Amino acid sequence: MKQSLGAKTLLFPTPVLMVGTYDHEGKPNIMNAAWGGICCSQPPCIAVSLRKATHTYAAIVERKLYCRHSVGKAGETSGLYGVASGRDVDKFAVAGLTAVKSDLVDAPYAAEFPFVLECRLLHTLEIGLHTQFVGEIMDVKADADVLGADGLPDILKLKPLVYDTGHRGYYGIGSLLGQAFSIGKELVE
Ligand SMILES: Cc1cc2nc3c(=O)[nH]c(=O)nc-3n(C[C@H](O)[C@H](O)[C@H](O)COP(=O)(O)O)c2cc1C
Repeated sequence: MKQSLGAKTLLFPTPVLMVGTYDHEGKPNIMNAAWGGICCSQPPCIAVSLRKATHTYAAIVERKLYCRHSVGKAGETSGLYGVASGRDVDKFAVAGLTAVKSDLVDAPYAAEFPFVLECRLLHTLEIGLHTQFVGEIMDVKADADVLGADGLPDILKLKPLVYDTGHRGYYGIGSLLGQAFSIGKELVE
C-alpha cells in the first residue's frame, strides 16, 4: 500500500543545469538549477525556474539571454554554483573557470565545460516562489571528446549530474537499459 508523502517537489531524477549569465556590471556568473528541462521540440526550448532572490534571475530579466551547461563531476566547484551567490562571490574565479562570451547570445559559458546550450529568453511565467524562464536553444556546443562516432553527445562521456530531489544528493548516471522508441514495439507489432 502506498503512503502519502504530501504535495512536494519530488521527481526522480532531475538534471543539474548550470546557468551562465552576465550581471548588470558585466561580470560572468553561474548558478545551479535543478528545476528545469527540455520543454519544446520545435522551436527547441529548455525551461528553468528561478527564485527572484537569485542574482541570476535579475541578469536574465535584464539581458534576456543565458547559457546552460551540464557538467560531470560532483566536485566542490559544481556544488559551489548552488551555494554561493554571484552577488557576493566571483564563482568563475573561485572555480578557476574561463568565461567565454557566446558568439550567439549575450551570455558567458565556461570553456572548461564540455557541453553548452545557448539560449534566448522566449517566455516568462510567474508561477509562485519560482519564475519559469523558457529559453529557445539557439545552438548547442560540445567538445569533440564528449561526442560519439555518430556526432551526437555520448551520455556516458558527458557523465551529467543528476539530482535527488528527496535527499538532495548529486548522482551519476547508470548504464543503457534499452533503446527508446524501439523497445516495446514488439508488443504491438
Ligand atoms: C542542486 C541545486 C539545485 C538548485 N536548483 C535551483 C533552481 O532550480 N532554482 C533556484 O532558484 N535555485 C536553485 N538552487 C539554488 C541556487 O543555485 C543558489 O541560490 C545560488 O546561490 C544562486 O546563485 P546566484 O545568486 O549567483 O544566481 C539550487 C541549488 C542547488 C545546490
